[in-house]
Amino acid sequence: MTSAHLAKFKIPLHKPFWGKEEEHAAIDAMRTGTGVGDLSYSELLAQTMAQKFSVQYVLPTNSGTAALELACSCLLKQGDEVILPSFTFASCANAILLSGAKPVFCDIDIKTYNINPAEIEKLITPKTRAVMVVHYAGLACDMETISKIAQKYNLYVVEDAAHALGAKYKGQYLGTISDIGCYSFHGTKNAASGEGGAFITNDKKANKLAEIIREKGTDRSSFMRGERKKYSWVGVGRSLVLSDILSAIALEQIKKLDQITQLRCQNAEYFLEKLEKLSSKIILPTKSEGSEANWHIFAIRVPRIIRDKVISDLRSFGIEASFHYLPLHSSTMGKKLGYKAGDLPVTEEVAATLIRLPMYPQLKKSEMDFIAAVLEKVV
Ligand SMILES: Cc1ncc(COP(=O)(O)O)c(C=O)c1O
Repeated sequence: MTSAHLAKFKIPLHKPFWGKEEEHAAIDAMRTGTGVGDLSYSELLAQTMAQKFSVQYVLPTNSGTAALELACSCLLKQGDEVILPSFTFASCANAILLSGAKPVFCDIDIKTYNINPAEIEKLITPKTRAVMVVHYAGLACDMETISKIAQKYNLYVVEDAAHALGAKYKGQYLGTISDIGCYSFHGTKNAASGEGGAFITNDKKANKLAEIIREKGTDRSSFMRGERKKYSWVGVGRSLVLSDILSAIALEQIKKLDQITQLRCQNAEYFLEKLEKLSSKIILPTKSEGSEANWHIFAIRVPRIIRDKVISDLRSFGIEASFHYLPLHSSTMGKKLGYKAGDLPVTEEVAATLIRLPMYPQLKKSEMDFIAAVLEKVV
């Protein structure tokens, strides 16, 4: 996100919550290291996250996409099927395809925009190996029901928690409720280092495999811990390590995560109050049972026919409103996989009616008042 991008809108959609701490940490990483991954800041980031989220293994990655690719490479084999929502980012389906498996798209819930557990069981075949859930906007999926289905059919669960850093389900951090969790530190995310992510798991075997894949197919991680004298090529791998400079920034963000979550929650509460009077015209975001959201996204829905016009009207007032995911199943690639428009009606309805409004910790009450006033005028 360039300063030109931030300057384009009076009220941007996202704004990283960065301060002097992140600047100092990045500079220190540059002065004391070479910027390559798995130096002291990356190590500290992994330790801090492991402690905060009560999880055993954390591998910082150079994107959330990389974490998803690691998860799929660890758990899947050629010919497997993975059930996932179509209302998500391309990275989810790509990660599945890159590991030789097939994405099977599932419809979402009309209120939470998360995978609909009632639809999952209908899609299970003898080839199904895993369910990949996405906690959209940082609102938890129905993990209890999903875990029961996974147990019944002996499936892995992968959580795409790119939106969900700091959010909880029944007191447990999202990303830690399944076999593998994947976070993103993309510049738009709640904890941001520009680009970046993390793979987290309590599974020793998955972590060991992920360490090798993440380090170009070598046992370098083990060598770095002093467990062997040399490192060498031991398997097929990729280059997915996060630079120590970005780890330094991510570390400061994780330290601020509670503050970030609290400020976003306060803003969302205020926004909900302000927009309540429009509730006959727009659908406000919902809360789900047991979920402590982190308000990564504040999404409303309006009738299909006015959605694009409302977005462009908001933009003309300097408010960076935006649509969200074009469903994967009806994309060019989705069609190549045999899907067509009409296959997942709830997903299509949500995708055609949703508008993301600006949401970040620094968003001022006066700015939310302004957005609410403009919305009232244009819907
Ligand atoms: C749900 C979801 N998963 C994964 C990603 C990919 O994350 P990253 O941009 O860090 O690769 C995104 C995109 O930001 C996303 O929205």
